[in-house]
Amino acid sequence: MNQAAIGIFDSGMGGLTVMRALTSALPSEQFIYLGDTARLPYGTKSATTVRRYAMQAAQALALRGVKLIVVACNTASLAARELAASLAPLPVLGVIEPGAAAALAVTPQGPIAVLATEGTVKEGAYARAIGGRATVLQQACPLFVPLAEEGLIDGQITELVVRRYLEPVLSQSPAPRTLLLGCTHYPVLREVIRRIAGPELAIVDSAQTTAAAVTELLRVRQLRADRNAPAAPRFLVTDAPERFARIGQVFFGEVIDPDQVELIDLQ
Ligand code: DGL
Repeated sequence: MNQAAIGIFDSGMGGLTVMRALTSALPSEQFIYLGDTARLPYGTKSATTVRRYAMQAAQALALRGVKLIVVACNTASLAARELAASLAPLPVLGVIEPGAAAALAVTPQGPIAVLATEGTVKEGAYARAIGGRATVLQQACPLFVPLAEEGLIDGQITELVVRRYLEPVLSQSPAPRTLLLGCTHYPVLREVIRRIAGPELAIVDSAQTTAAAVTELLRVRQLRADRNAPAAPRFLVTDAPERFARIGQVFFGEVIDPDQVELIDLQ
C-alpha cells in the first residue's frame, strides 16, 4: 500500500479528461494535476522545447512526492522515455499506447484516423504505436486546443473548424472506421465531432485505457492506496488559476474549487 498521490500533467486543461477517468476508476487514490497553462500550447512547439517543458513539469510533480506520473498529454509523450529514465524508479506512463490500444480494440485492421496536434502528427507517435497492425491516417487539428481551452465546445465557429479538419479525413479511400482523439483536449469536442463524422464511425480516446493501464501498474507494483474516503485532488498551474478553475470543470466534469488551484513556477 502506498498513500502518496498520483501526478498527472498536461500543457493545460486537456489532461483533466484523463484525470476524470482516473478518479472514477481509482476512488481511493489522491491526484495532483499540473497544467502548464503559461506555456500552452505544446502542440505547435518544437520537440526540443516540449521535452524541456515536460521534464520541468514531471520534476515538479516528483518533488511533491508522487508515486507515479501520468503524462496526460500526447504531445509531451515524445519525452516519456527520457522522463522514465531520469526519474527512475518513479514509474512514468503516457497516453499514446493506451490510445492506440483503444482504437485497435474497436477496429483491429483500421483504417484509424488520428486527430492530434501538429507535434504528435510530426512525431508519427500513433503510427509507431499501432506498428503496421492497421492503416493509420493522420490529421493535425491545431485550432482544437484553443477552442477547447476557451470552453467553446459547441456552436457555429467550432462546427466550422471541426468540419474543416474532418472533411479531408472522411473523404479518404478507404474511409476511416475509427476516429482516435489523439490529444487529451479533444474529448470535450466529441459531440461536434460526432455530428460532423456521422453515427457510423467509432470515436475513441485514451482516457479509459489509460485508467486501466494505471490500475494495472498500481496492482503489479503494489502501489495502491487504501483510503476509505476519496482525498480532495490538488491542482497546480503555471498561470491564471481562476480561469483554470472556471473552465477546467468542462474537462473534469466536476466543479473545481479555485482554492484548490495553486500557482507555481516551473522555470
Ligand atoms: N493536450 C495535449 C495533447 O494531448 C496538448 C495540447 C497542446 O498543448 O497543444 O497533445
